[in-house]
Parts: sequence; C-alpha cells; structure tokens
Amino acid sequence: MSIALKTPEEIREMRTACRLAAEVLDYIAPFVKPGISTAEIDRLCSDYMVNVQHTTSATLNYAPPGYPPYPASVCTSLNHQICHGIPGPKSLKKGDILNIDVTVVTPQGFYGDTSRMFIIGNASILAKRLCQVTYECMWLGIAAVRPGAHLGDIGHIIQRHAEGNSFSVVREFCGHGIGRRFHEEPQVLHYGQRGGGSELRPGMIFTIEPMINAGKAAISELSDGWTIVTKDRSLSAQWEHTVLVTEDGVEVLSLSAGCPPPPKLIDGPLVSATNAAVAALPPAPLS
Ligand code: MF3
Ligand code: CO
Ligand code: CO
Repeated sequence: MSIALKTPEEIREMRTACRLAAEVLDYIAPFVKPGISTAEIDRLCSDYMVNVQHTTSATLNYAPPGYPPYPASVCTSLNHQICHGIPGPKSLKKGDILNIDVTVVTPQGFYGDTSRMFIIGNASILAKRLCQVTYECMWLGIAAVRPGAHLGDIGHIIQRHAEGNSFSVVREFCGHGIGRRFHEEPQVLHYGQRGGGSELRPGMIFTIEPMINAGKAAISELSDGWTIVTKDRSLSAQWEHTVLVTEDGVEVLSLSAGCPPPPKLIDGPLVSATNAAVAALPPAPLS
C-alpha cells in the first residue's frame, strides 16, 4: 500500500480534470432552483460534460464490487441523504439543501472530483448553519495539508469543528487519492488524531469531502443499493475539493471561476493564493 507521488505532467493533467469538474458545478448552479428535478439536473450536467467539455462522467455505470452499476452522471444528495443520491423525478422545493457531486474523466484519462451544497430558496437556520460549518470543515482540512503533516491532522480538525458545533461526522465514507483512477490510496478520514496516519509528501493528490450530519452519525443504505441517508433522518451536508500537496503547502485543484471563496475563518497565504488562482481562471463556457 503506497501513496503515489504524481509527476509534474500528471499534476498538469489533474489541474485540468479538477477544473472541468468544478466548471460543471458552475454551469449547473443557475438551474438549481425550486421546481427542477434532480433527474433534469443530471441530464443537463451530462449534456454539458459530453457535448461542451468532451469529458465523460466517472459515476455513470460505475460498479465497484458488490454494487449495482451507478445509473447517473452526477450524484444528487437531498436533505437527509448523505451521499451517492441517485437523481430522480422529484422536484426541488424551497428549504431543501442539495449536494451535487461531479466526477469527470478527461479524454487523457484523468479524474477530477468535487462537490458543493446548494440551498434552495430560504432554508432553515439549522440547514444554513450545517452547510456553512461543513464548508468550514472542508477548508480547515485543506488548510492542514502541507509536507510533513499527517492525514490524521486533516481528520482531527474536521472532527473538532463539526463536533464543536454539535454536529457529527460520518465515519463510513472518506476522501481518497485520485488520478488515473477514481479511488486510490490513501483513505482520507474526516475524523482522527493529530499526528496519526501517513505523512503527507509533495505530489500526493487526494480529495477532502467531509459528510456532516445535524443529528447522529449513523447511516442507512436505501434499497437502491447506493443512496446513503442518516439513520435518524436528520439533515446532512457535504463539500468536496481535490487537493495537491505542494513543496510548501497545498494547492486546491478543483477551483473554477464560480466556486465560492474560502470561508472567513481561514486566513493567510492559502486564501490569497486561492483567490488569485480563481481570479486568473477564465469563466466556464456556457453551453
Ligand atoms: N464522487 C463520489 C466521491 O466523492 C463518488 C461517487 S460514486 C457513485 O468519491 F457511484 F456514487 F457515483
Ligand atoms: Co471523492
Ligand atoms: Co465526489
């Protein structure tokens, strides 16, 4: 079991793959309104990937051992759904919270993976706070990434922030290495001990994608074989970026012109570098 260190060439390819994944979210954002169904969101994202980007969806027909082939091009996880929600005919309504998770594969064979929360109309104070705290969890995890740090440092800070806000961390799913394969070493847990787990080295690429529940951490799986929900049916939120360990810190690869800026509780060079990188990106093509 070893964690690949990507070559400069692979890093360039991954920058492209991850930006393209983020641009699918930029493209779909204006459509995510009351009345649209998650199946329509899936179709729009699929058309954009295939016809505009010339990427393919990594999730469509994805079938790891023991799972039926995943039937859609993006995952849409609504309200108490934690992850892997299957798009369907149900329309969004005011007060919903929705995660859209996009993984594209470029023609060169590289995977880019990112997800965001969307708040439909005016959600409850709890729903908004859950989305915000989960966003902060992801960014605190990102800010812990540097050579010499450990995977456990990422999990620890995420767990501390989530539980410090009386939320809970989903244990059964984690971030993952990514490159020419969808899921590779390491597993990036969203809970843990400072100093635990593998040491980070320049060239590693992995996702940070905390799933945070408003109630208890326990999960259930629906009979569709994919959708994961909170056992207590409390709300759940998730954000995901793909990141690179650099010589002196971290680079977020899944940035796009439309991605939200780092939250206020993050500061320092990471924020200026991220904001400068976002400002330098051209807007995603519309259609
Ligand atoms: N994109 C998800 C992740 O972040 C995986 C989705 S697998 C699917 O790892 F099959 F459910 F789409
Ligand atoms: Co992922
Ligand atoms: Co994902």
